[in-house]
Amino acid sequence: MNHNSKKNTIILGIALGVALAVLAAVFIVFGLMKNAGKTDGKGPFNIIVTFGDDPATQKNFSWYTEPGSSKSIVQYYEIGSAADAAKPDFKGASQVEGFTETLDTYLPSEGQENSASASMEAAQFVRHGVFIDGLKPGALYVYRVGDGKNWSAAGTFATAPETAVSAETGFSFLIVGDSQGYSQSDFALWAGVYGAAVKNCPDSAFTVHLGDFIENEDNALSWRYCLTLPEALRSATLVPVAGNKEDDNFLKYFLLGTREGVTGLNGYYSFDYMNVHFTVLNTGDGSKDLTKAQLKWMRRDLETDAAKNAAWRIVLIHKAPYSDRNHADDSEIVDIRAQLLPEFEAYNVDVVLEAHDHYYFRSEPVMDNGSAVAAYSSETVTAGGEQVTLFSAADGGNLGGANGVFYFMPGPSGVKQHSKGFREMPEILAAKSLLLSDPVFCRCEVSAERICFYTYTVDRYNYSIKTVECWGITRQ
Ligand SMILES: [Fe+2]
Repeated sequence: MNHNSKKNTIILGIALGVALAVLAAVFIVFGLMKNAGKTDGKGPFNIIVTFGDDPATQKNFSWYTEPGSSKSIVQYYEIGSAADAAKPDFKGASQVEGFTETLDTYLPSEGQENSASASMEAAQFVRHGVFIDGLKPGALYVYRVGDGKNWSAAGTFATAPETAVSAETGFSFLIVGDSQGYSQSDFALWAGVYGAAVKNCPDSAFTVHLGDFIENEDNALSWRYCLTLPEALRSATLVPVAGNKEDDNFLKYFLLGTREGVTGLNGYYSFDYMNVHFTVLNTGDGSKDLTKAQLKWMRRDLETDAAKNAAWRIVLIHKAPYSDRNHADDSEIVDIRAQLLPEFEAYNVDVVLEAHDHYYFRSEPVMDNGSAVAAYSSETVTAGGEQVTLFSAADGGNLGGANGVFYFMPGPSGVKQHSKGFREMPEILAAKSLLLSDPVFCRCEVSAERICFYTYTVDRYNYSIKTVECWGITRQ
């Protein structure tokens, strides 16, 4: 090759490179525009995946669209690892169709979108729901939701293994709550907190939200910010707990139960993840404490073989039955405390995860209706990258139920912290009671022998995390 033809080849190469780069840029920009159109126009939002009755084989999908969309479709297929979801191909994917319903709700008047006292105007959305069953236990799937023309971005979901927890095989899950707010910036903070939580616990099996998602249940824009801004929510299975804020709107945003509709329809339900039993209560079911119907359901639930033989029994509840701050003297809380503490002790509950008071609270292992501390011993071990204080029964048996229930409130994951004065409550046997200035998330790790709670605050500005406390319970 002479000098000139070499030069020509180089020039041609550069020209080709530039042309390809321009073409790629056009494709990327076009792709982004198309995606933006999907998100802001006819595309799905408020996409939430929940468990069906059986976490090993069933999932429920709920999402919203603007009016005009009349089909609800979920497409999904099994993948080997999360990396396989990066470039999903839904050709040949399984497909299930569900229901649509028109929902009458409200939006803030124009110009008042981020105001706590916004006037509201009537609005309509289409709510979509799909129940999927027959899934493979212990598997990972990629999915998208849509109406056949407009699709969401892809997310992933995993089913529970059918095995029991052992010393070596367990699972972890995330606990958040009280994300409540009004404005886009309120929920941008919540999205940052949730992002930090997922980064800290990338293989969590599911996310428990202990209730009070939003401040005004009628404000569909707040809901949209809350459920759509945290992108990672699309790839989480959410366990929603009904708070006092969502009230009648709870079941409009989360699809519980199964196609047959036998459970969850009053906002209380239960599930077994591996052989750990979760009972989810609804403190907004009646006007004060739990209704007779819910109490009856709870007793029946905790008497099932699955609950009685479970490795751990965990109750999820919004209004804290046992805490020592702001709401602890509210009349309905006093009633809930009197109603539920004897039940939790009688049915051998290990831990009650609670919210509503926006601070960090961990009780002693309490017995005799919360009036006495069970005899326990403790040791500090290194686990999950932290120093963890582990509690066990002093007498060689196990803590739990009549031998000591732990009441635990990791704290709020949104903008609102409680800080005002409160009555000293020596009758509530607190081991830790901390006011926090930053939002919180908690990672829970479960095996047959121990259950550990790692709680972190998230910096409001750079989302770095700081350990609040790590504690757990061990079995003999
Ligand atoms: Fe609340």
